[in-house]
Amino acid sequence: MITRDTITRIMDAVRIEEVVGDFITLKRRGANMLGNCPFHNEKTPSFTVSPAKGIYKCFGCGVAGDSVKFIIEHEHKTYPEALRYLAEKYSIEIEESEAPSDKQIEEKNERDSLYIVSSFAQRFYSEQLLETEEGQNIGLTYFKERGFSKETIERFQLGYSPEKGDALVKASEAQGYLVEYLQKAGLASDKYDRPYDFFRGRVMFTIHNFMGKVVGFGGRTLLSDKKVPKYVNTPETDIYNKSRILYGLFQAKNAVRKEDECILVEGYTDVISLSQAGVENVVASSGTSLTVEQIRLIKRLTPNITVTYDGDAAGIKAAIRGIDLILEEDMNVRVVLLPPDDDPDSFVKREGADGFIKYRNSHIQDFILFKTSFLQEESKRDPVKRAEAIKDIVDSIALIPDAIKRSVYVKECSHLLDMQEQILVSEVNKIRHQKNSKKAGAPVEDSPRYVNEEVPEPKEPILPASIGALARQERDVVRLLLEYAHLDYSDEWKVAHAILMELDEDETPMVDPISEKIVNVYRTSIQEESLIPETHHLVSHEDPEISNFAIEILQKPYELSENWIKMHDIAITDTQFVYRKDIHSSLCRLKLERLKILIDETRNNMQKAQDEGDELALVEQMQLFQQYIGMKQQIATALGSVILPS
Ligand code: CTP
Ligand code: MN
Repeated sequence: MITRDTITRIMDAVRIEEVVGDFITLKRRGANMLGNCPFHNEKTPSFTVSPAKGIYKCFGCGVAGDSVKFIIEHEHKTYPEALRYLAEKYSIEIEESEAPSDKQIEEKNERDSLYIVSSFAQRFYSEQLLETEEGQNIGLTYFKERGFSKETIERFQLGYSPEKGDALVKASEAQGYLVEYLQKAGLASDKYDRPYDFFRGRVMFTIHNFMGKVVGFGGRTLLSDKKVPKYVNTPETDIYNKSRILYGLFQAKNAVRKEDECILVEGYTDVISLSQAGVENVVASSGTSLTVEQIRLIKRLTPNITVTYDGDAAGIKAAIRGIDLILEEDMNVRVVLLPPDDDPDSFVKREGADGFIKYRNSHIQDFILFKTSFLQEESKRDPVKRAEAIKDIVDSIALIPDAIKRSVYVKECSHLLDMQEQILVSEVNKIRHQKNSKKAGAPVEDSPRYVNEEVPEPKEPILPASIGALARQERDVVRLLLEYAHLDYSDEWKVAHAILMELDEDETPMVDPISEKIVNVYRTSIQEESLIPETHHLVSHEDPEISNFAIEILQKPYELSENWIKMHDIAITDTQFVYRKDIHSSLCRLKLERLKILIDETRNNMQKAQDEGDELALVEQMQLFQQYIGMKQQIATALGSVILPS
């Protein structure tokens, strides 16, 4: 690994105008330089380079970054490659630090090897399907019968695995791949005296991870023999963890984001048929029940899930089973039950995309209400069953983290069940109470990981007025973090340490996703390497949301926060350390915003407890309320000592 020290020397030496100037002609325009953007076609130059700030920005297409990012993007290099390129240009000797341990390298190499053989297998199966007689006659004919177009076959990388027992093994040996990796990738079996293909004589569905890498396969038999399993899937491997993968998500993710909805179906063919018909925001859990990890993959893109299952009893039961997990993740779940004997694949084939959407719109139901009426219907005449059903519904409602949503459901369900609302309320509260006391000792949930996205979002200002006060305040803290991370905050701590400690104390994740991502970059680096990341790491970060935010901050002398200006009014002598006060008050303001929300919540809870005559809860909530008000006053005082002239 290239040492931090070397990176710093490289970054000190590079001149953005020279780096960019090697590729395009720049003309001086005031403090900046201007040229034709190399990232899009243009006749009037809008590509601006700022030597003073070390960054570039195109006002035509929006690309922006520093020298490292320019080389990464323009020369299609990786981050270390770009650093090496710049080091050579400026004759800087590269020091490599203690390389990662052999075991680490081995593991990384092994995973990489599994990705490589999996991707090879995918190309092999595709070639078999399209270019061999057996593949065309058997596999391609089958896919055509199912109505899959050429584009669909390509987009979903469908394939065919030949009958012959070791076709893939032989082909990959010929390419020089070790059979050991085929076995570790679940592609060859080691059960026999010699390696044998795991998939034989099946049409192949390629399974990708979120980033689009091939991680596994599903193979469908074309025999109708009941003894042969219809689908065989890649077993768990180092790169294929069933519970963390959703079939079709890679192909669906842009549509999911755009439609702000993810349609969840059961099977491979359901995904493919819907997608081909134009309903592209669709993924499958592939026959198993949904896991929390899978739900969180969706949650990165949208909070809205529409479960679309077969309308038969098994379908309904399956729908009811998996969904409590989704509720717990605070997602909005709705259900569309198809007519009996239909699955999404057969339905959309018969009725087309328009028919599907029309049906969806007229049959979409809120999950809890759906579950309630279904169970109500089922248990009408049996008091024991009815009690169980009510318990079941109450359990679901109690999972919903949002108090307002919970109370709406209680109301609706009490009508449906023809029951006193009060009883449901107290049951829900009881369950939540039990859960909370169990959870008290539980570790804090792990924070969201960041995602690589290829589509840069349109830029909005760093502190847009449109987002909530809390998110705005979070961004303000992050801005200060980016700007001052390496400066001293106290004798002992740098600014980055101080800010992270304050943030972690609350144990509350940021509500603003960009802020959360950036704080996590710092957190991870400090925790894992005891190092505060350099600003340029964020500027050339592979996640465009992070790099755009960092660039934006470097670029403009941001609107100084109000308190900062006020501070100047009272003529702080120690201007050198002004940032400390700015940070201190920004953190205070963040805490205030968080408290405001807690106070509002508690106020609502008090009101509810009062309405319900639940005295115990009322007392509890009042105590909390007092505590929050006290904290608020303390912070306001602390803030006052910074911003208000005494
Ligand atoms: N499945 C599986 N193993 C099986 C049966 C099913 O892994 N033995 C998974 C597959 O992911 C399959 C899904 O469960 O796509 C739904 O099963 P099913 O409805 O039987 O298959 P379809 O996808 O509808 O396939 P087809 O239309 O070809 O029958
Ligand atoms: Mn089917």
